[in-house]
Amino acid sequence: MRSLRTGLSLVSLLSGLALLVPAPTASAADAPLRDLAAAKGKVMGTAVTGSKLTGTYGDLAGAQFNSLTPGNAMKWGSVEPTRGSYNWAEADQILNFAEAHGQQVRGHTLVWHSQNPSWLTNGTWTAAQLGQLMNDHIALEVGRYKGRLAAWDVVNEPFNEDGTYRQTLWYNGLGTGYIAQALTAARAADPAARLYINDYNVEGVNAKSTALYNLVKSLKEQGVPIDGVGLQAHLIVGQVPATLQQNIQRFADLGVDVAITELDIRMTLPSDSTKLAQQAADYKAVMNACVAVARCAGVTVWGFTDSDSWIPSTFPGQGAATPYDENYAPKPAYYAIAEALGGTTTPPPTGACTAAYSVTSQWDTGFTGQVKISCSGAALSSWKADWTYGAGQRITQAWNATCTQSGAAVSCANAAYNGTVPDGGSVTFGFNASWSGSNPVPAVTLE
Ligand code: XIL
Repeated sequence: MRSLRTGLSLVSLLSGLALLVPAPTASAADAPLRDLAAAKGKVMGTAVTGSKLTGTYGDLAGAQFNSLTPGNAMKWGSVEPTRGSYNWAEADQILNFAEAHGQQVRGHTLVWHSQNPSWLTNGTWTAAQLGQLMNDHIALEVGRYKGRLAAWDVVNEPFNEDGTYRQTLWYNGLGTGYIAQALTAARAADPAARLYINDYNVEGVNAKSTALYNLVKSLKEQGVPIDGVGLQAHLIVGQVPATLQQNIQRFADLGVDVAITELDIRMTLPSDSTKLAQQAADYKAVMNACVAVARCAGVTVWGFTDSDSWIPSTFPGQGAATPYDENYAPKPAYYAIAEALGGTTTPPPTGACTAAYSVTSQWDTGFTGQVKISCSGAALSSWKADWTYGAGQRITQAWNATCTQSGAAVSCANAAYNGTVPDGGSVTFGFNASWSGSNPVPAVTLE
């Protein structure tokens, strides 16, 4: 035994040993989000692009979500680009996909100021003509999908930030009455669909959401068919409104459903592990708020992968706003959603950063070791490497890290100058330690 300890052959054997501790990833046994949501009586949806519903995109859209919203396919400009000539292909495709996968569909959207056909926006219409155009459009589109849609965003984005009505084609031509008229037409065309008014920056209690609240209250009092309020929730990392749940609750108390309809949480690019962790906390906060209120029907993300998000083209320099990265790898936000829905999946604590422990030289009473921390697809701004010695080894000295040992537990934190490990980069620290008997290699975890 004693001769072995000093043998060069053992030193060279040990020096080659490196223990990689990969970050945990979602295992096949993890329940898909749609099952977790269904168990809570909620919808977990995503906006989709019809042409992409094959391969990995289609697999994930079908497996993880129990509701789909066409991102663009049902907008007026998509379905009737030329007056009287219709294109239903993408909307039909998404509906067929949803029905094949046992998913709900949310119709989006009938009456809006944006993405309308130019023949409509450039036309000159009397109030009577405008009202007829709106009624006919609703009757045709809602009627086409009658009985197949769970909900319709009937009116989209009717308010300004200060709570006044947005000056749109519809408001300017028909006054505030266009909203009741649109809802009434939609109910007539499909009595089974839940009818919503949908808007952004109405997630917290503020002037705009209060205007929406007052509108819904007055529509209810007048007997106008209104079933729900859609909170788009195009949010910014670190800025989930503190009054989100309170706001959902006050709409629920009016006797309408609430849905988070277009959730994404954007950040300034490039993303890093700190921002992704904050984003995960933010996704969880939104999910928790919906789970906490019985009348919150569920949450739809506005694209489930960063490769199919409207954010980078609309908000230059911003992105990484969805639960999956561009390569369909689940981000911390994905695990946060699963957890909020009661799932047991734990997010990888430090993304794809790993620690490799090795003994670089060894003599009869001591040895020199090192730990190399490498990041790929993730980055660190600080780190701590922990392990447990199984055979009484004791650290005597460390460099490029501050190491403490308590019993068998060793914890080494970064020095002031090497906390940053960039994506694709690595940091190494070293130490001397004592040993006797045996010197097994421990598993290192990063925190
Ligand atoms: C966005 C789509 O995602 C983009 O592809 C399109 O270019 C612009 O519209 N509020 C809404 C959605 O109600 O319809 C918008 O969708 C995003 C903001």
